[in-house]
Amino acid sequence: MAETRAPFAALQGKTPEAVFGGLVTPCYVLDEGQLRRNGELLAGVAARTGCRFLLAQKAFSNYDCYPVLAPYLAGTEASGLFEARLGFEELPGKEVHVFCGAYREQDFDELLRYAGHIVFNSPAQLRKFGPRARAAGKSLGLRINPECSTQEGHAIYDPCAPGSRLGTTRAQWNAQMTEELISLLDGIHFHTLCEQDSDDLETTIKAVAEKFGDVLPRMKWLNLGGGHHVTRPGYDIDRLERCIRFAQQSWGVTVYLEPGEAWALNAGFLASRVLDLTENSGVKNAILDCSAACHMPDVIEMPYQPPLYGAVEGTGNREQGTEEAFPLGGRWPEGPDEGRADAAIAPDEGTDK
Ligand SMILES: Cc1ncc(COP(=O)(O)O)c(C=O)c1O
Repeated sequence: MAETRAPFAALQGKTPEAVFGGLVTPCYVLDEGQLRRNGELLAGVAARTGCRFLLAQKAFSNYDCYPVLAPYLAGTEASGLFEARLGFEELPGKEVHVFCGAYREQDFDELLRYAGHIVFNSPAQLRKFGPRARAAGKSLGLRINPECSTQEGHAIYDPCAPGSRLGTTRAQWNAQMTEELISLLDGIHFHTLCEQDSDDLETTIKAVAEKFGDVLPRMKWLNLGGGHHVTRPGYDIDRLERCIRFAQQSWGVTVYLEPGEAWALNAGFLASRVLDLTENSGVKNAILDCSAACHMPDVIEMPYQPPLYGAVEGTGNREQGTEEAFPLGGRWPEGPDEGRADAAIAPDEGTDK
């Protein structure tokens, strides 16, 4: 049966075989039309509110497609030197923002060539590099940690989980931010969400207002980070716009958002073929010409499972011993024998997907 869910809407009711059958696999296929639709949606929010959207390149750095997104974005966000250079070179004239947990001395002078906005993770990093960056005319920010977790069950990559290395808490601010350091700052940055809706942003903004509301009127900008799933069907855009206006009106700041995934959501496919189906002890395995490690490392690093064409909910657990479950694995002998046992395809999808 053809998939009509959002991730596969670009197939327009056709099977992957019909659309990708002529391609050498594995390959990634990008849907420019969907990239444009995502861009238009984000640009609409920017036009209505006056906020500025950046592309977080850690989520999407396919620079061949930057010209497609260029009309919709204010600039790029980088997590280090090379991403900053990529944004600077591939989107000339656009803003380049960088946030890094800690900058390296050997990178910093070159970074100053590319980045216009530099966000530090700690007062110590601001003290070490801030004066040099300020002298070079850069706009500086500090990443705060509002200590407001809105992610359930994602503690390993929740920046607000206790013990997180990311962001300056209010207690750290109070202990370490001298007047001299505060005067180096133009902006505050936070990033606490992941694939979340705007109700969680609203909760977070309230925590930011409570903890840092006295500091923000001194700032020129506030960066709300990424993790906003704005282009997902059903996302509450009105509430997002209310959050943005609340920040603008409360603190007189320019609001930045730096989503990554939202720019590229449902705009790409990994096309792969099932090369063989084997059976052992009642378990049927599908052997693919792609692997999680090489082609979708997020599946290993994060608790993340991409939408799979033809997958049937609830068939993916090998322990359930369901007849229909087909654990997916690469054709290479390295790595876990079963790849991800929780990925499954329905048996009638057959081979040659
Ligand atoms: C600082 C920062 N900004 C933006 C993003 C982009 O997040 P997403 O792709 O979930 O929108 C991330 C992702 O980890 C991040 O760490």
